[in-house]
Amino acid sequence: MKLTASVLLVTVIISWAASPALSIRFPDRISGNVNALSEQPLRTAVFALGSFWRSEAAFGCLDGVVRTAAGYSGGSRPNPEYRSLGDHAECVQIEYNPRIISFRELLDVFWTSHDSRQVFGQGPDVGNQYRSIIFTNGTEETRSAALSKEREQTRSKTSVVTTQIQQLGTFYPAEPEHQKFELKRNPFLLQLIGNLPEEELEQSTLATKLNGYAAELCPPRMQRQIDAKIDDIIRKGWPILREI
Ligand SMILES: *[C@@H]1O[C@H](CO)[C@@H](O)[C@H](O)[C@H]1NC(C)=O
Repeated sequence: MKLTASVLLVTVIISWAASPALSIRFPDRISGNVNALSEQPLRTAVFALGSFWRSEAAFGCLDGVVRTAAGYSGGSRPNPEYRSLGDHAECVQIEYNPRIISFRELLDVFWTSHDSRQVFGQGPDVGNQYRSIIFTNGTEETRSAALSKEREQTRSKTSVVTTQIQQLGTFYPAEPEHQKFELKRNPFLLQLIGNLPEEELEQSTLATKLNGYAAELCPPRMQRQIDAKIDDIIRKGWPILREI
């Protein structure tokens, strides 16, 4: 959001908070609509690419992504938790509509959203839990993953791409405080969609998109589209966002 918008936002929040009539909670119906409209069943992909806060945001804004969740996978410890995740990696689980976005397109975003050549961490995050993994379900996905890894290795020349390709196993959702982490850091955006309770927030396609927006990880076109929507809402003085 631009600076002028931010000043406006503060004004809106103040007048909004002062008016109980405006604090009605609007349920988010977006995720339901998306499911109903698509005849194709949704598919699930899981990737590990560093901190799951950022990973969730990196995929949330893409057209065709319906829902994301942060969690743990790739290890053997039963019921991992944030402070004791054992040999698991931090992961993002992505539910997507394969008619709108393909597994290969998700792989492209996977490669551009982290540095697969870093060993034992990503940027400031150091540790085995930040390793890079593509989880695959079936031979076709395994083939796509292997091909895309080869391409990435060719691009990175001398440094070794450390990404592992593993069969998709159990995905353990992370604790609520790690879900939609970027969005939760932005009280204005949370207000904007009606302060959904945790369960609705985790299922909401709108919250999934705004989580990417909050981290400024949406594709530029989508980032601009959401900026415009928010500007429009502020102008109209009815600060509720129901869809993008
Ligand atoms: C793997 O894919 C099949 C369909 O190809 C699907 O039925 C199954 O649920 C998938 N498994 C997981 C763990 O997502």
